Amino acid sequence: MRKKIVAGNWKMNNDLSETEELISQLKLQMVKDPEATVMVAPSFTSLYPAFQALKDTPIVVAAQNMNAAKSGAYTGEVSALMLKSIGINTVILGHSERRAQFKESNEMLAEKVKTAIDNEMDVIFCFGEELNERKAGKHFDVVETQLKESLFQLPKSAWKNIILAYEPVWAIGTGETASPEQAQEIHAHVRSLLEKNVGKEVAENTSILYGGSVKPNNASEIFAKDDVDGGLIGGASLNAVDFVKIVN
Ligand code: G3H
Repeated sequence: MRKKIVAGNWKMNNDLSETEELISQLKLQMVKDPEATVMVAPSFTSLYPAFQALKDTPIVVAAQNMNAAKSGAYTGEVSALMLKSIGINTVILGHSERRAQFKESNEMLAEKVKTAIDNEMDVIFCFGEELNERKAGKHFDVVETQLKESLFQLPKSAWKNIILAYEPVWAIGTGETASPEQAQEIHAHVRSLLEKNVGKEVAENTSILYGGSVKPNNASEIFAKDDVDGGLIGGASLNAVDFVKIVN
């Protein structure tokens, strides 16, 4: 049985006091035992206070990025061991903003995923096509290449720690979401790629989230699709009322 997951990616938003306020709202408004696994990914400066504030709740705190190296001369970077030392065991990797603005390639992401798995961390691995790629009908090939080059070399045993997040770049922060049918089409394609390249069991058990302008008014329609196991939420995760509605 694969997990239902709703994860909030706060991106570069919320200073410490805003983090404290949002978390106290989430604690007040979220049901004590949500049916889905709920995660939030604050910025690095808020990770430890968020972890401390949420450690007695079912809400998991994740990092938005990390470096593949163990330690060393990587100014401005954060390692897996640093995250683990403050209780963080989940990391988002491959977000399209990191791919586009920080030039993270599929090969670099393969290294980061390997480091995360070697450190027994869970990974939310993001992938998805850009608008011009969809218009050219290349979206199936683009996601296949992203998955193949970053993930398909992993041993089967690693897949219990992998959560996939399909995020069509043209739907991120634009208010234009993929239709539930478009999401389902790609998710089903990804599941068939998993079956072909990794195996049936992994294909059936890996959660595939959808991300891109998910809001309280469209979440249930998208999440109702067979191969959509939840969402990676950006803008709407910054508002406790909206995020809790999406989780519910
Ligand atoms: O990581 C989250 C996604 O980039 C979606 O962001 O919900 O603001 O479109 P959004």
